[in-house]
Amino acid sequence: MTEPEGDYLLRTDEEELARMGLQHSLWRPIAEEMWDAAGIGNGMRVLDLGCGPGDATLDLAERVGPQGSVLAIDRSPPFLDHLRVRLREKGWDERVETVEADFSRLGLKAETLDAVWARWTFCWDSDVSATLAQVAQALRPGGVLVVQDYLNYGGLRLEPREPAFERVVDAVLRSWEDSGGDPDICSRLPGLMADNGLLLEQDIPITRTISPDDSMWEWPTTFFRSFVPELVNLGLLNSREGEAFEEAWSRASLNPGTRFPLPPMQGQVARKPQAGERDS
Ligand SMILES: C[S@@+](CC[C@H](N)C(=O)[O-])C[C@H]1O[C@@H](n2cnc3c(N)ncnc32)[C@H](O)[C@@H]1O
Repeated sequence: MTEPEGDYLLRTDEEELARMGLQHSLWRPIAEEMWDAAGIGNGMRVLDLGCGPGDATLDLAERVGPQGSVLAIDRSPPFLDHLRVRLREKGWDERVETVEADFSRLGLKAETLDAVWARWTFCWDSDVSATLAQVAQALRPGGVLVVQDYLNYGGLRLEPREPAFERVVDAVLRSWEDSGGDPDICSRLPGLMADNGLLLEQDIPITRTISPDDSMWEWPTTFFRSFVPELVNLGLLNSREGEAFEEAWSRASLNPGTRFPLPPMQGQVARKPQAGERDS
């Protein structure tokens, strides 16, 4: 198991790479819908901000085609190394530029991007407004910022209720907020986008309730089974609470009547105005 990087608490090892790959395959249809709605397509230059191991980066590279390009930025060397291996396999080293950088110093050139994709990125950013200022200056007039992120994560509950699960949710929230992140970032983003001159065009709820026979059940299962031991290591849960979670999740997974509303998210699309729009 690798140590968490900086204030980002999730892991970056092989097991986490596999979990993120699964996560992307489950959420890919929503990403594709949002890219369609935002008009991301052939020939564009797109930034994948906080790209992780690059699962979405590869789909974006496919989408923009050989005439387009993707800039993939993350601060995690293991994630970027993983992405570079995949790019070499595809022969896409030219199409995708990988850059190791922190959100606070992205080094973006002015008016060079047609679109920015940021999924589960701003919820980890301790200074979202400063990042949005960099993104806004780097977008071309008419360019889009497309976000998928969390809204009110703290409301997570299993039905039938499992108190051991609710203790885990409280610990997740504490660890997230202690690291400077915001599990309710989508409630603040529209205001921060406006402060940075971006016009919110779409703000769409992404909600879904699943049961254990749903393929999406693997998503919370792999996340909580991976992260609960980290919460125990961090001292935010004791080992008995970790075991109680395992028992509760197994019970819920074996009960076909279990219902689990997934963490609420928003899909948000904001556009940098054209010069004329700005003046009017
Ligand atoms: C939850 S992952 C999301 C990855 C990817 N966007 C996806 O949808 O699969 C968050 C990513 O943000 C990166 N990250 C967190 N804090 C960062 C920071 N301050 N600067 C740059 N990257 C950061 C992490 O390394 C991680 O890859």
